[in-house]
Amino acid sequence: MHMAHPTATPSALLQRVGALIDAGRCGAAGPLLAAARQIAEPTPELSLLAARLAEGQGNDTMARSELDAAIADAPGHAGLRKQRAALCHRLGDAERAARDAAEAVIIDPADPGAKALLGSAMLSLGHRPEAVVCLTEASAALPRDPALREALAIAMEANGDAAGAFDILSAGLSAQGGALNLRNAAILFCIRHHDFIQAIALAEEGRIAGTVDACLFGLKGHAQSSLGDHAAAAESYAEAFKLGPEDPYVRHLVAASGMLPEAPRAPPDYLRAVFDGYADRFDEHLISLGYQTPGAMRRIVMEHLTLNAGSRCGPVLDLGCGTGLVGVALSDLPIGRMTGIDVSGKMLAAAAAKGLYERLIEADVLDWLEGDSTRWGMVLAADMLCYFGDLGPLLRLVRPRLRNGGWFIFSVEEPPPETAVTAQGWRLQRQGRYVHSMAHVASAAAAAGFSVRSLRRQTLRHEAGAPVAGLLTVLEPAP
Ligand SMILES: C[S@@+](CC[C@H](N)C(=O)[O-])C[C@H]1O[C@@H](n2cnc3c(N)ncnc32)[C@H](O)[C@@H]1O
Repeated sequence: MHMAHPTATPSALLQRVGALIDAGRCGAAGPLLAAARQIAEPTPELSLLAARLAEGQGNDTMARSELDAAIADAPGHAGLRKQRAALCHRLGDAERAARDAAEAVIIDPADPGAKALLGSAMLSLGHRPEAVVCLTEASAALPRDPALREALAIAMEANGDAAGAFDILSAGLSAQGGALNLRNAAILFCIRHHDFIQAIALAEEGRIAGTVDACLFGLKGHAQSSLGDHAAAAESYAEAFKLGPEDPYVRHLVAASGMLPEAPRAPPDYLRAVFDGYADRFDEHLISLGYQTPGAMRRIVMEHLTLNAGSRCGPVLDLGCGTGLVGVALSDLPIGRMTGIDVSGKMLAAAAAKGLYERLIEADVLDWLEGDSTRWGMVLAADMLCYFGDLGPLLRLVRPRLRNGGWFIFSVEEPPPETAVTAQGWRLQRQGRYVHSMAHVASAAAAAGFSVRSLRRQTLRHEAGAPVAGLLTVLEPAP
């Protein structure tokens, strides 16, 4: 007997496409969507699916043009507006995201999803009180949504209400003890506020309740290590490694604890996870630590300008530009165009909000430099090389990109006096950053074809009341 195929009607086909995208099976969804487009009238729902599919396949440009075209035809469709708001926010265009999310809220003022998107975009734009209002309303409408609660806590903390932020996370944990991401957010919160004992207690509660993952044990190890209990930390890292042997965050912390052979650099996925989670409070935190590197770099750049009066200094490349603090320090100097590169989209969004860089690029610096053909007048790297062990690969990529007479200015952390470095002159420390000896900086520079213009000791910032010793280096192409 012949049975009609259940996916023969357009609406059944579209339902199936949606289910496949939700399940992450974009390869299977593609042909079905193409078939649906043959038989169905174009509708906003169809465009929405096409945009979601394109995003699922990593084709953000196609997703964006699907949404742009669909919104031009149906500007009052809340779903399309929300989808474009989320896409733009992810791509660092917080202004466009805020405009679309605001439209979606106007279309449906009761929609918590639209308010949540508006709140997140407001936060990226630095409108913290407004972000708190939007996210409070969204979270009140969906009190059991842990992601919303976490977003609200982040906004409250950024708005200066750390105690309120912690209360929001704790209330969520009391109501839903099994919400793992919420627990990890609360542990991370405690670590950031140096309440390591509470962080360990929260992790322990999770372990007893059986809701754990690699991240929870990684954070627990971090808190234990911060209290100097390295033996307990090693046990936690071992648990983390069992649960997530491929997790780049865990692998790096495990390597830092000395349980894995030292990796020559911090993995980009680890850096993205750390700095995306740090971006909202990076500037305030660094200022509170008495961060000195951008100011010290400014003095060196001024020296270059004095020595080379009349000749141009830029274009300037800022490697690992983060939230743009170096751009701020140099903003009134006649140095020409600045380009910033960073692996963290959220750090870049904060840099973009300052409006000081001509171009901001989201990439790993090694990958990006390999394809670059610019001749830079100056290359800067403030507190970025502490995420590389061997400095050789980066220096070898920078050297051909630097114009004759140009300077490469960077900082590294120096090993504390009692720390032995490897034979190569660097070491991965327990908190995941590398330290470098003066000898390693000098020899890697010479091997890459630089001469050392200056290499001197400099306090980079203060941690736990003590100065963090660094080396500030100025290299120029060897004659
Ligand atoms: C400590 S922050 C310093 C930010 C900025 N240079 C400053 O001085 O304020 C380090 C920054 O370098 C970025 N970073 C580290 N390794 C990187 C890599 N391999 N490629 C791109 N960015 C990197 C991080 O994402 C982070 O934003």
